[in-house]
Parts: sequence; structure tokens; C-alpha cells
Amino acid sequence: MRFTWLAISLLLLCFCTGCAANSHEGTASAETGEQEKKETRVQTYIESTESVKLNSGYAMPRLGLGTWTLRDKTCEDAVYTAIKCGYRLIDTARYYGNEAAVGKGINKAIDEGLVRREEIFITSKIMPGDYTRADRAIDDSLAALKLGYIDLMLIHQPGANDEEVYKALERGVRDGKIRSIGISNYYTPQDFERIQRIAEITPAVVQNENHPYYQNTSLQEYLKKYNTVLEAWYPFGGRGNTEKILQNETIKRIAKAHGKTSAQIVLRWQIQAGYVVIPGSSNPAHIAENISIFDFELTADEMQDMAGLDRQARFENW
Ligand SMILES: NC(=O)c1ccc[n+]([C@@H]2O[C@H](COP(=O)([O-])OP(=O)(O)OC[C@H]3O[C@@H](n4cnc5c(N)ncnc54)[C@H](OP(=O)(O)O)[C@@H]3O)[C@@H](O)[C@H]2O)c1
Repeated sequence: MRFTWLAISLLLLCFCTGCAANSHEGTASAETGEQEKKETRVQTYIESTESVKLNSGYAMPRLGLGTWTLRDKTCEDAVYTAIKCGYRLIDTARYYGNEAAVGKGINKAIDEGLVRREEIFITSKIMPGDYTRADRAIDDSLAALKLGYIDLMLIHQPGANDEEVYKALERGVRDGKIRSIGISNYYTPQDFERIQRIAEITPAVVQNENHPYYQNTSLQEYLKKYNTVLEAWYPFGGRGNTEKILQNETIKRIAKAHGKTSAQIVLRWQIQAGYVVIPGSSNPAHIAENISIFDFELTADEMQDMAGLDRQARFENW
């Protein structure tokens, strides 16, 4: 019983300090001038999650919150909590049915002065059901999010008419509705080239399943010539599979060596390996834990050990 309370207290302490260390509230005192506040904000954006410069010229945070399966108030609260903890990248999709809730969580943080719109990087996706009405789908996403513009919009997956969808995304950029564009679930250089061949704007991001058991380093290597970033979905294998990754003995050994959790080791590995990563969670303690990965580094040997876990095995097949 005493142990349970000790564990709960420690968890709460970690959560509170984790968020405070990354939030603006903890750094800006009442006397701080506007300029100083601005500098603090910019610093938080860069230091709390690091960022990568996309081939579109925009900076994208390396770590974000995934929101698949999160709905309504649960989703809104998770997004708001994440922003308080220092997250600046939020991943959503028309298909998730939660763009309005994501927008609410972000706008709540903006209204409270925690962040400005331009510090947030929002990603959404055009779903297959909208592939014959992509221009209107972009407007639907804009209307649901209520954030003025979308930082990154992706084709959710290959499908009939996806090349036309890409053209609509390019129109979205030209019309100032979207800043960067990309594709999702295109796993081979050939898949990528089919879109790149018809593109006037090279995809900035390819968002794919990626975790210790499916690393797809050959695609990541291929994309370097276009300066296109590979973004990892399912860092923990997705709901229902997380134990398969988080209980891996190699990952647990590395976690022990750093006094970190398996989840933090996976995310740290993905960032050091050059990916952008978007773990999903509605649990405030996990949300705080997942961003506390910028205070340590994996050694070259540990990176090698993580690379050795690759089995070329995906959990999904879309
Ligand atoms: N483009 C695509 O086709 C595509 C497909 C799938 C996903 N995605 C995106 O990628 C994101 C990530 O994928 P995902 O959310 O499905 O799977 P995931 O991030 O691999 O795993 C989410 C699971 O991990 C648990 N979790 C999170 N942090 C944890 C921690 N520190 N310790 C232990 N468990 C933890 C979550 O539970 P709790 O909620 O309890 O924390 C949840 O059960 C999605 O949310 C979505 O935005 C994109």
C-alpha cells in the first residue's frame, strides 16, 4: 500500500515538473518584458522538441503528439496538455474525426497566452473518401481546425486519383491555405517517385509506419536527395502492440542504463536517427514522459543496438 502511494506521488511529481520545465508559464515571470517573453517562446519551440528545416523552408518540430483514436474532450484535453508540456507539433487527419477537437485544444492554449499560432505546427491529411473532392476537403479541414492555415497536409495513403490530390495540395499552398505538403504510407522509392514525377512542389515529408521492428532506412536514405523528411507513426507499434516493443530486452537494458523508460528510449532513438516522431497518448503522465527526451543521448553503440532490432516487420498493411 505504502509502495503504491509512493509510486503515485513520484508519478505526479514527474508529471508536474516535466510540464513546468517545458512550459512558458514556468519561465516567464510577471516582470518579464514582452521582448523577453517572445525570446522565451522561441527558445521553448526550439529547445523543448528540437526542429528540422523542411525543404519548403519551414521548421518542423521533431517530436509531436499523435491523436489517432482520440475524440472530443479527451482529444481536446490531450492536445492542450501536450502544449502545456512543450509540444508544438500536433498530428491529426480528416479520417480521425477529431480536427475540431484538436483545433479547440490549440485555440484554448492560444487564448490563454501559452503559445501563438505561428509556434504551433499542425499536420492534417486528406482521406481516401475525399480523393475526388480534394480542394473542398482542404477547406473542410481549415474550417474544422479554425487555425487560419495548415502547416503540413498529406495524402493519407496511395489510392485512385492520388496524383490529382497532390495537385490540389499544391493549389492549397499557392492559395496560402497550406504551408508544406507531403504524402503518407508510400514505402518504396518507386511509390515516392510516382508522386514526385508529377509534383511541382517536392514532398516535404513522408509519414510512414516506423518503429524498432520496421525502420525502413533504405527509404530514409533515398529521400535525402530531395531533403524530404521521414516522419514515424506507430513509434510504439500502436494501441494493442505497445508491450511488444516496450518490453523488448534490448530497449529495457538501454533504458536502465540511462534511468529512462523504454518509451523514452524509442523516441530518443528515432530523433537521433533523423526521423520526426508523433507518439499518440491521452494520458497526461505519458504525454509528459514522452517529451522528456532532450536531456540525454544514446551512444553510438546503443544506436547500433537499436538498428539491430529491425525485422522489416510492419504491424499494419495499408
Ligand atoms: N498516416 C497514417 O496512416 C497513420 C497511421 C497511424 C497513426 N498515425 C499517427 O501516428 C500517431 C502515433 O500512432 P498511434 O498513436 O496509433 O500509436 P503509438 O504512438 O505507437 O502508440 C500509442 C499507444 O502507446 C501508449 N503510450 C503512449 N506513450 C506511452 C508511454 N510513455 N508509455 C507507455 N505507453 C505509452 C498509448 O497509451 P496512452 O494513451 O495510455 O498513453 C497508446 O496505447 C497517431 O496518433 C497518428 O497521429 C498515422
